[in-house]
Amino acid sequence: MRIVELRSDTKTKPTLAMREAMFAAEVGDDVSGEDPTVNRLEELAAEMLGKEAALFVVSGTMGNLSCVLTHCRRGHEVILGEWAHIYWAEVAGAAALGGISYRPLPNQPDGTIEIAGIAEGIRPPDLHYAQTGLICLENSHNRMGGTVLSLDYMAEVRELADRHGIPVHLDGARLFNAAVYLDVAVAEVAAYADSVQICLSKGLGAPVGSVVAGTAEFVARARKVRKMLGGGMRQAGIIAAAGIVALEQHVDRLRVDHANARLLAEGMATISGLDIDPDAVQTNIVNVRMTHDGPTAVQFETEMAERGVLFNTISDTEVRMVTHLDVTRSDILWALEQMTGLQTGRKMQV
Ligand SMILES: Cc1ncc(COP(=O)(O)O)c(C=O)c1O
Repeated sequence: MRIVELRSDTKTKPTLAMREAMFAAEVGDDVSGEDPTVNRLEELAAEMLGKEAALFVVSGTMGNLSCVLTHCRRGHEVILGEWAHIYWAEVAGAAALGGISYRPLPNQPDGTIEIAGIAEGIRPPDLHYAQTGLICLENSHNRMGGTVLSLDYMAEVRELADRHGIPVHLDGARLFNAAVYLDVAVAEVAAYADSVQICLSKGLGAPVGSVVAGTAEFVARARKVRKMLGGGMRQAGIIAAAGIVALEQHVDRLRVDHANARLLAEGMATISGLDIDPDAVQTNIVNVRMTHDGPTAVQFETEMAERGVLFNTISDTEVRMVTHLDVTRSDILWALEQMTGLQTGRKMQV
């Protein structure tokens, strides 16, 4: 059966070029800084992100946690969006392992947190209060449908943070998608943050890994935190090699994923039972609501899975679809045909 995999851009399989690079990778013990391939990946990522240094980590979760633990001390508070991945989907790692508390603020539909809200959320220096240790942004914003924070917005947050002497961390699991949408170099977006985490294993298609970047001093401290978290890897060049291919070959092609997401959204806007504004789709994530007379999200997910189109529900009334390297334009057209067929069949039964 034909399968169109829209559950996540984490589902991509390594390309032949990646597998060949992995096979040929020169390796060494990375805990001692002796893996030339990891070193090359870190240098490349630092250069692309416009930062002094970078650190290869196992996952986005480990990258974000390493950064939060490096910026903050026990008792600090982190300002972030209530739908920030760091807050809702990373097992409260900073609280559990770092004694750090979260100050979640409402996310707007475009992924921003209102500037006035952040300003109010910053704790004054009162004896009773936790100290605000960090502000976290997410770009593109996963839960809000791959929406992109503008450079103007990022500059406003930076300016506010600077006024209060608070660092900014950017969860850039899909930062390259954001940069492609904004049509700027990724370093231009990362410039507004002290630290940034990018995932190699999402739209960029690598099998494993993320990179964090910042000043050389910050990265040296984050390296120690990574070791504490059990993330010191040995001949990690085997996987870093695929990360290099991801950065060198898979950034520009993210445009294709964005065009496919848009095509999917435009098609779904014409299908009964589904409610979506294609103009709201900016990158590779498409969140679709069910209309009140349409199927439930679970029903839609289950019935489409039976037809080979895979995606996930994100609430009782909403599903999420993600385009990526392993989804073609023809897959999207075929998926739309399946959806139309299902919904037409449903209407005839009624
Ligand atoms: C915005 C964002 N940040 C961080 C992560 C965590 O990445 P990982 O799954 O590699 O831990 C994800 C994963 O989906 C994500 O979407």
